[in-house]
Amino acid sequence: MIITVDNPPINAGSTEVRQGLLHAIHEFQDKAQLKAAVIIGAGSTFIAGSDIKEFSLPLAEPHLPTVINAIENCSKPIICALHGVALGGGFELALGCDARIALTGTVFGLPEVTLGIIPGAGGTQRLPRFIGVEKSIELICAGTRIKADEALQLGLINQIVKDDLIGNAIVLATSMFGSKKRIRELTTPKSTAANILAASNKALKLGKNRPQVQKAIEMICNTLILPIDEGLAIEREAFEKLRLSTEAKALRYQFFAERKLFKGLGAHDAEAKPINQIAVIGAGTMGSGIAIACLSAGYGVVILDQNVNALANGVKRVEQFYAVRLKSGKISAEKVSELLSRFSHSVQWGSIVSADLIIEAVFEDITVKHEVFQKIEAYARADALLASNTSYLDIDAIAAKTANPSRVFGLHFFSPAQVMKLIEIVRCKATSAVAVATGLSFAKHLGKTPVISANVFGFIGNRIYTAYRRQCEFMLEEGAYPEQIDKALEDYGFAMGPFAVADMSGLDIAWSMRQSQAINRKPEHRYVTIPDTLCLAGRFGRKSGFGYYQYPEDAGKPIVDPSVNLIIEAASQAKGIERKPFTTVDIVDRIILSMINEIAHLIVDKVVSDPTDCDIALVNGYGFPRWRGGPVFIARELGIDTLKVQLKQLAVVSGPGFLAANTDVIFRD
Ligand code: 3HC
Repeated sequence: MIITVDNPPINAGSTEVRQGLLHAIHEFQDKAQLKAAVIIGAGSTFIAGSDIKEFSLPLAEPHLPTVINAIENCSKPIICALHGVALGGGFELALGCDARIALTGTVFGLPEVTLGIIPGAGGTQRLPRFIGVEKSIELICAGTRIKADEALQLGLINQIVKDDLIGNAIVLATSMFGSKKRIRELTTPKSTAANILAASNKALKLGKNRPQVQKAIEMICNTLILPIDEGLAIEREAFEKLRLSTEAKALRYQFFAERKLFKGLGAHDAEAKPINQIAVIGAGTMGSGIAIACLSAGYGVVILDQNVNALANGVKRVEQFYAVRLKSGKISAEKVSELLSRFSHSVQWGSIVSADLIIEAVFEDITVKHEVFQKIEAYARADALLASNTSYLDIDAIAAKTANPSRVFGLHFFSPAQVMKLIEIVRCKATSAVAVATGLSFAKHLGKTPVISANVFGFIGNRIYTAYRRQCEFMLEEGAYPEQIDKALEDYGFAMGPFAVADMSGLDIAWSMRQSQAINRKPEHRYVTIPDTLCLAGRFGRKSGFGYYQYPEDAGKPIVDPSVNLIIEAASQAKGIERKPFTTVDIVDRIILSMINEIAHLIVDKVVSDPTDCDIALVNGYGFPRWRGGPVFIARELGIDTLKVQLKQLAVVSGPGFLAANTDVIFRD
């Protein structure tokens, strides 16, 4: 009997699918003339997992474990024929079958932890019985997806075929007439406590110690001590608890927000131009990072810098990046030489003539950028697209001085450019639709997450970050200290607090930006002088040994500096502010509220079209913890009325200059 799951586009295991499967299995059991069954997916894939749109409500019967029980309890063999992906519940269903056959290239995995849950249909109980505890911890806790050949090596599938999946599955099923091969009957291979501890510690570190990772380890280890039915019941109970948690809801929100973003990005009225050859202007950290990102994605890259030493350093950074990956076994020697065969460098502007896309990543100074764009125009092909990687300069002004501003746009990478997922695509007044579509397609090809921003100061991310930094400075004046704010945010899930970040980037950079903007500042607006005072004292952050913290040479991390606290207290006193204690919750709430307020401004000002894009930008470019969903998710959880009350309070404590936004726009989809 052939049982086909047909629920496009990805055959998600919805209630109807589970009902259909259970019905078919019962029918197969009841018909004595049928000797074996094959479960297969229609369309481009097997089952990509449970339908997570159902996950915010109580799950309707039959649950997936009931379907898998029916397969195991069936007296006749049931084979899974797999193609596309077999993920989550789809893979768990396959593990409940008596044999598995897959097309070349099929992908397997239990990605549940990435959704804040654990496998809930036996994944943590059957996988270890097959491949052992350590390997299961590695795969389940990282949500790793593996290809068919690795699955075959691990013994997870019986056979890989190049074509005729159903024909080959029938042959395999026929060979199994009269037999059952249940994974539940296997005993988990023995392991040592030391090996399990090492695998667990590694997984917890990688998984940021999140509750679903801890639970997954506990469940996997249960297979060494508990009978399978007991283990399965405990697994399901833990899955149900996690499924209903806010953290899992936030991760589902992020999942669907990203899908919506990519769908929206695809709906552009212009065709992207083909891009093969990239020129990167400027061989600094950013330029070489961009070069690495482009090389790794398969592009030909030339990097240009007129300073010979800077160019040599940039080239070295690129070569070292691949040398380190080669040494650690992440890449083969052949791959490195193939990658570097596409890489060249030059001090000559003539080297950019064959580039389809030219990315400027030079010093953040508008005069320098104007000069660079003039040079680019003199040498680039007339149909090449020109992008600036500026973080805060006016790209319209840069474009206005070029002969053809329609081909100029922003490609704002985040440092390190070869790692960070976010790219802001800045659409200027004259940017053509083709340039935007090409920028998007290029960013996607790099494996990045692009969000489209209008050309405003700070674009999307830095506008939100600036608003949040300002609140942090307000709190310093009102009674908090840098280490307290940093700790509150690190405990919340950020990799680093804002003051440690400021010290790392260098306080002088923001200082010179503030000086250049001082003329536009309204004197009646609240302005915190603490960062300026630190800079006047020569405290430029890590590079000068002092900033918000001290950095003695022998200390690996920032040390709290009492003299900074004296500067802060003096600033409060100078303004007549009575300092009050802040709790961790006060600090975090105030920061999130300031982000929500700024996002509402961005929507009203038409800088970004969809509020959820801001959450995606913060998670992928600013270290906002994904499992918190993002400020928009949090706002929607709070509700419009509570948010309005809280924002009114924020406006009062923030004082003159704080502009409360119309947050209704956050609640529109
Ligand atoms: N539930 C509901 N919808 C899903 C879904 C899921 N598990 N996975 C994907 N979709 C939807 C997407 O939202 C999208 O919908 P749209 O067309 O309306 O926007 C559509 O399917 C296609 O998805 P993608 O745009 O992501 O298509 P791709 O081809 O790029 O990728 C994929 C397909 C590899 C299947 C990818 O979507 C994916 O990785 N999905 C998540 C898989 C997963 O996490 N499975 C585990 C679920 S939890 C579980 O099984 C619990 C169990 O242990 C009990």
